[in-house]
Amino acid sequence: MKSIAVLASGRGSNFQAVIDKITEGSINAEIICLITDNPDAYSIKRAVNAGIPAKVIDYRSFKSRDEYNISLCQAMKEINPDLFVLAGYMRLLDKKTAGEFKDRMINIHPALLPSFTGLHAQRQAIDYGVKIAGCTVHFVDEGMDSGPIILQRVVPVYFDDDEDTLAERILKEEHIALPEAVRLFCSDKIKINGKKVKIL
Ligand code: GAR
Repeated sequence: MKSIAVLASGRGSNFQAVIDKITEGSINAEIICLITDNPDAYSIKRAVNAGIPAKVIDYRSFKSRDEYNISLCQAMKEINPDLFVLAGYMRLLDKKTAGEFKDRMINIHPALLPSFTGLHAQRQAIDYGVKIAGCTVHFVDEGMDSGPIILQRVVPVYFDDDEDTLAERILKEEHIALPEAVRLFCSDKIKINGKKVKIL
């Protein structure tokens, strides 16, 4: 059975989607820790409800970004799971941390990468006027939302959509995509070959 640690900064609906799939037995894994940078994150409640230890590394309590990054990386090394899942973790990992856990850290992003990286991806899609949008689960590398893509799911964008209606439509697909990628990883069905991921 694989061990997982989740990083989440807020609401945690993607975290919950993974918890639910593990509970129903579709993923052979155990979530051994939630790490959050935000002491007010609703994700903490979800962890407590599921009996998962929550570790708060409060970004605002550090003097500098470097100090926060060192502390986060140290905690991640101590927890040392088979897989890290970034589920709405809203900070860019520093290059050292990203490199340290390469090939065993995945992220969900609310856009069809490589389009619309970074924050407010759904707003970027609306503003650009694209007709399709979606979500991407990918390995984390040293760049921003640039690692090998595991899977993507697509939704239509309608003329009357705003950021919220589009985000809601994409989120439904995220709740399918993220647990599916976790399931594939935990059953050793993923092989990374350079920029490409093969699903075995
Ligand atoms: C999700 O839409 C996720 O894709 C996005 O934040 C939301 C978190 O929702 N992540 C990013 O934008 C990362 N750059 P959740 O807390 O309910 O899972």
